[in-house]
Formats: sequence, structure tokens, C-alpha cells
Amino acid sequence: MICERVAPFSDEWHQVRELCYILFFQKHGLPRTVLDDGLDEDAHRVCIKRDGRVVASGRITKLPCNWYDVTAMVVASPLQRQGFGAAIMSCLIDIARQLGADGLTLKARTTAKGFYSRFGFVAKGKVFPSAKTGVPHVRMTLSLK
Ligand SMILES: CC(C)(COP(=O)(O)OP(=O)(O)OC[C@H]1O[C@@H](n2cnc3c(N)ncnc32)[C@H](O)[C@@H]1OP(=O)(O)O)[C@@H](O)C(=O)NCCC(=O)NCCS
Repeated sequence: MICERVAPFSDEWHQVRELCYILFFQKHGLPRTVLDDGLDEDAHRVCIKRDGRVVASGRITKLPCNWYDVTAMVVASPLQRQGFGAAIMSCLIDIARQLGADGLTLKARTTAKGFYSRFGFVAKGKVFPSAKTGVPHVRMTLSLK
């Protein structure tokens, strides 16, 4: 599987945005502006395509410390559990290492906790509801040093 970089505001970026909207926010009836967090220009985002269309993606953004936040991990529903998410996560970990990151942190949907555990992410603290959707999440971290 080939992971490609996604340039901000490119055609691929718009496809990723739609995938994120469908998977995270559509059923909660939220507007697409819920995706606007102002972090994309400085983010490192990757995707995998099938038949020219984006089917999987993820992003890391730098935090004030030397850690990076993993967000927008998505795989199109019909293609989940076929290794696409693992390929994206491996690619993001490689990029973080190249950037000299001390570690990665993320807010995992509790339903996806097992996926992140496979990469060595460890849950910290209590389960909490997402501010935007109310879906239960847990903070997870992976030290890279
Ligand atoms: C979570 C998600 C990114 C995982 O990607 P994926 O392509 O489905 O996962 P993969 O096929 O690469 O799975 C890699 C490994 O993790 C396991 N895994 C995948 N999803 C899992 C889950 N939800 N819980 C536990 N284990 C999981 C797989 O069984 C596989 O294990 P193996 O290596 O022993 O075979 C994807 O399913 C998804 O987009 N889900 C909906 C949106 C979402 O919840 N995103 C995460 C928000 S925090």
C-alpha cells in the first residue's frame, strides 16, 4: 500500500475531509464546518488511494512540546479491517520519527482502542465524551524515545 502526502486544500485534502465528515460527524447532524480546526496548513497528512480515490487517511500535528497529536484517522467503511489503517498509522509513526518527535498522543474512540494498542499506544486517564459528538474517547500515548 502506498501512502501519499496530502497537500492542504488539494483535491485529495477535500476527499479526506469528506471521508472524515461521513465517518465522524454526519450521523450527529453537525455542519461540515466542524472540521475546520485551523491546523491543516501545518499538519503532516497522508492518504492511500484506490482507483484514484482517497480511501484512508490520518494526520499528525505538532504540540507545543515535542510531541505530535494524531487526528483524523479514517478508513472508508467497506475497506475497514483490511490493513489500510495500519499502513496509515505506520506511515505517521515513520514521519514522526523523521521529525524527531518524542512521542505521539491521540484521543481514541473507545471502539478503536484495540487498534492503537497494537502500535504500542497506552491509554491514560478516564474515558470522556467528545466535546463535538459525545462519543466516548480515551487519551492514548506512544513514546518514541
Ligand atoms: C479505526 C480504523 C482507523 C482502523 O483501520 P482499519 O483499516 O480498519 O484497521 P486495520 O485493518 O489496519 O487493522 C490493523 C489491526 O488492528 C485491528 N483492529 C482494527 N480495528 C480495530 C478495532 N476497532 N478494535 C480492535 N482492533 C482493531 C485489526 O484486527 C488488525 O489486527 P491484526 O494486525 O492482528 O490483524 C478504521 O477502522 C476506521 O476508520 N474506523 C472508523 C473511524 C474511527 O473510529 N477512527 C478512529 C477514531 S479514534
